[in-house]
Amino acid sequence: TSADRGAFSGRTAFIFAAIGSAVGLGNIWRFPAVAYENGGGAFILPYLVALLTAGIPLLFLDYAIGHRWRGSAPTAWRRFKRWTEFIGWWQVLIALIIALYYALILAWATNYTIFSLDQRWGDDPAGFFGEYTQALGGAEATISFDIVPAVLVSMIIVWLAVIIVMALGVQKGIAASSVVFIPLLVLMFVILVARALFLPGAIDGLEALFKPNWGALLDPSVWIAAYGQIFFSLSVAFGIMLTYSSYLKKKTDLTGSGLVVGFANSSFEILAGIGVFSALGFMAQAQGVAIDEVVTDGVGLAFIAFPAIISQAPTGAGTLIGVLFFGSLVLAGFTSLISIVEVVIAAIQDKFGFARIAATLWVCVPLAVVSTALFSTTMGLPLLDVLDKWANEYGIVAAALVSTIVVTYVVRGLPTLRDHLNHQGTFGIGTWWLVCVGVIAPLVLGTSLVLSTRDLLMDPNTYEGYPGWFVFVFGWLMAIGLVVIAIGLSLIPWPAGSNLHKDD
Ligand code: PHE
Ligand code: NA
Repeated sequence: TSADRGAFSGRTAFIFAAIGSAVGLGNIWRFPAVAYENGGGAFILPYLVALLTAGIPLLFLDYAIGHRWRGSAPTAWRRFKRWTEFIGWWQVLIALIIALYYALILAWATNYTIFSLDQRWGDDPAGFFGEYTQALGGAEATISFDIVPAVLVSMIIVWLAVIIVMALGVQKGIAASSVVFIPLLVLMFVILVARALFLPGAIDGLEALFKPNWGALLDPSVWIAAYGQIFFSLSVAFGIMLTYSSYLKKKTDLTGSGLVVGFANSSFEILAGIGVFSALGFMAQAQGVAIDEVVTDGVGLAFIAFPAIISQAPTGAGTLIGVLFFGSLVLAGFTSLISIVEVVIAAIQDKFGFARIAATLWVCVPLAVVSTALFSTTMGLPLLDVLDKWANEYGIVAAALVSTIVVTYVVRGLPTLRDHLNHQGTFGIGTWWLVCVGVIAPLVLGTSLVLSTRDLLMDPNTYEGYPGWFVFVFGWLMAIGLVVIAIGLSLIPWPAGSNLHKDD
């Protein structure tokens, strides 16, 4: 007798949860720099092409598998074709790794929301961040393992919040928090953008971002970058959208929902681009340097450039921008983190037929303990760097490549899935979808995998200058280990109480 899997109350709840997952750090700290470096205003062309030929088609694929086969990643894949169960476990393990370090970024952002109030970083944000994380970067990275108390406390808070939301379940936890947090996030970000636009130099920043470099379109790496951004940004092939769509009623318009999610996510990327480049334009002017010299992304943008911007902005404006920017990171990151954790909880719940709270505790308590123990130490930053790189390249990209090839050519399941989508969809999908999923996506994913492997192996230095053993263990060994463990897990029989044989 297995417990209820949970469900979304309707299409709106699902759309909010899916937007909550999609809109994340990738929109705020990744998209603006990627667009700037890959043709500026001209990037819109490869970006839209990638959205329409791969992002939305793969989103539909995730939806179709999860909704047609109604289960967590391992259950849905197994029902699709028994031997493909390992792909589901692979997605679960990737989610597990990402959740471990995503919580660290949230913990930092939480602390920096508070630090913004008194601009605690003084006039040396980079030095402050180094002290705060106590991480030695680059070539000097002697990997050490000392507790960083300021991070420890906020890591615990982040995990407690995750546990509460996840225990509340699919509708009252996941959907309800997205229904509240996503509009709040949009409101905060719009105010942030409006204020940043009036900083001196903001317009130069926007000109730099939107100035089209049409020549860039001839460079294949620009196209790869566009597809890479779209895959990551839409959370496709993580098992997330698959899991979420399994909580939808049988009669639900999947394709219409997918379009809403896809365009909402891209709109937030453009909005973030405007906010971030207004702020960077101001920073360049304040420091009397070219925009090019201040453009960064990721951790450097959030925790070094933004504190500098906040300090240089007029009093009042700085605090406002700081609280809104870091608060936005917290909200965007939180709704993404719960979507990753749900992939794991759903799998455990299906496998053992656990009730919601039991599944939540079995997954989240060990995850919280390991994540906090590993990442609130001096090893946090280097570990995040390496895991993030490999989990993306050899986790998500590789898993997406394998799934599209398996579905299209080995199982030949695309026509069934297309028919399923067409059953309820507001608009029909046809041959173009088969071509996108079966030809375009595998080609782009395969190319990007080959190119990044070449870059990693040809680089005379190890990744980011970290010690060789460290990159080997937490990069290569971790990535290959996940596949091996996933295959092992797929061979373990399902207990009698599991959800596998239950029809809902
Ligand atoms: N789609 C998210 C973003 O753009 C990224 C993400 C979501 C990563 C969920 C992991 C899990 O930031
Ligand atoms: Na996104």
